[in-house]
Amino acid sequence: MNKPHKNILKWDNYNQKVNALILIVDDEKFLCKQLEKALSQEGYSVLSAFTGKDGLEVAKRESPALVLLDYKLPDTNGLEVLQSLTSLEPYPTTIMMTGYGSIEVAVSAIKLGAYDFIEKPFHIDKLKVITRNALSAIELRRHLIAATNREQEKYGFNSLMGKSKSIKEIIYLLQKLADTDPKTILITGESGTGKGLAARILHYNGVRAEKPLIELNCAAIPETLLESELFGYEAGAFTDAKKMKKGIFELAHGGTIFLDEIGDMGLGLQAKLIKVIEERTFRKIGGTRDIKVDIRVIAATNHDLRELVSKNIFREDLYHRLNVINIKMPPLKERKEDVPLLTDYFVTYFNSEAHRDITYIPEGVRESFLNYHWPGNIRELRNTIERAVLLSEGKQINPRHLQLEEKSKDEIKLEKSEGRMILEIPLDDASLTKIEEKIIREALDLNDWNQKKTAEMLGVTREVLRYRMKKMGLLD
Ligand SMILES: Nc1ncnc2c1ncn2[C@@H]1O[C@H](COP(=O)(O)OP(=O)(O)OP(=O)(O)O)[C@@H](O)[C@H]1O
Ligand SMILES: [Mg+2]
Repeated sequence: MNKPHKNILKWDNYNQKVNALILIVDDEKFLCKQLEKALSQEGYSVLSAFTGKDGLEVAKRESPALVLLDYKLPDTNGLEVLQSLTSLEPYPTTIMMTGYGSIEVAVSAIKLGAYDFIEKPFHIDKLKVITRNALSAIELRRHLIAATNREQEKYGFNSLMGKSKSIKEIIYLLQKLADTDPKTILITGESGTGKGLAARILHYNGVRAEKPLIELNCAAIPETLLESELFGYEAGAFTDAKKMKKGIFELAHGGTIFLDEIGDMGLGLQAKLIKVIEERTFRKIGGTRDIKVDIRVIAATNHDLRELVSKNIFREDLYHRLNVINIKMPPLKERKEDVPLLTDYFVTYFNSEAHRDITYIPEGVRESFLNYHWPGNIRELRNTIERAVLLSEGKQINPRHLQLEEKSKDEIKLEKSEGRMILEIPLDDASLTKIEEKIIREALDLNDWNQKKTAEMLGVTREVLRYRMKKMGLLD
């Protein structure tokens, strides 16, 4: 059902930092010898080929990290060889060696994908520097690809777990959006429903995966700081601005910016944001020129933006700009069929994280999970399970370690004051079973889960208490 990640990048062949292999393609045998010597002294392995044809064959066979390619070759020219090299998978980083004054060749080489060029005759030290730079660029790229791959593995479409119809629809939508790369997306939903997760899935499965994903929580930063984070500033823009600073819009160029909690952004900044969204250009604070950027903006909020618009806290034009594509994350209580799956998933996850071996989840626990309304959604389920897995000893989840939050209304409330318990029971749900459960739980808590004392307090035998506890899922 879920598509495999389509663009996991390959990096095995870039993994050549240690003793990187360099191939020299040049018909001047004496020069080759000199370069071989100098570069071997630097710790590289070096091979030479004296024709374009040989050079290509060696490149295919040995996958060098770097090729030093002469333009003038006996059988062909360097640009042709370069073209063939760039069709290799992966293709080696190439430095073109050009004759003196042949700048057009150099330009064509760069256009065709050469990393750099060097004019002959050159000083060997200059070549060493270019080589070193090229190899560290390869190394950097290798790290980037490895990191991107890790994130891609982590944020595949199936990291959004669920078999409910609503989740399947969301996954379908995410797949479509990842393929088509729309520039603005709004994700809404209650807290903990997976908005952040959905944003990461979109980024890491789309064409921008290799470019940065920059996340910014608009609620967590004061307005003025938020502005300089977003737009950056020129040196001298304000007293503290000693050096120029790039903002997130600039840093995320080519990639995605994830504006979390957009509903909490102040009105002043909203006005500035709308320009970026409409024109994809912005100005640094204190700057005089517009900077054009290619960014995807994903915004998320757990507020009802329309309501904020009606209260004049959120700009209507910005709302419409953002709301072109809206992904609505469903609350967990509306897709209870996903609870067992998520429960098992998180138990397995925290087993391995915390080196636990919980293999059994009592029926009663499962039932209480199904009955619970999960106001904190998946985050709450995840935290609940993390806690229970950490605290439970042995092989099963101990119901004692579950602390599900009280439902605020239409649930039985229990308060204690001056040695009394006060029960508040909703008229439309005065179920005896629930009242009984409430009292038993409270009594257990009061007696530190000592069954004998609890039974005494409730005026029943220990067997009766145990029977009730079992029914409630508090015993197996
Ligand atoms: N369908 C899902 N499957 C697996 N894990 C999920 C799912 N949805 C959410 N999670 C996990 O639940 C936690 C909360 O999700 P997330 O942070 O994306 O929620 P959110 O909607 O952004 O919440 P908030 O509004 O509070 O920022 C994360 O650890 C996330 O990985
Ligand atoms: Mg979030």
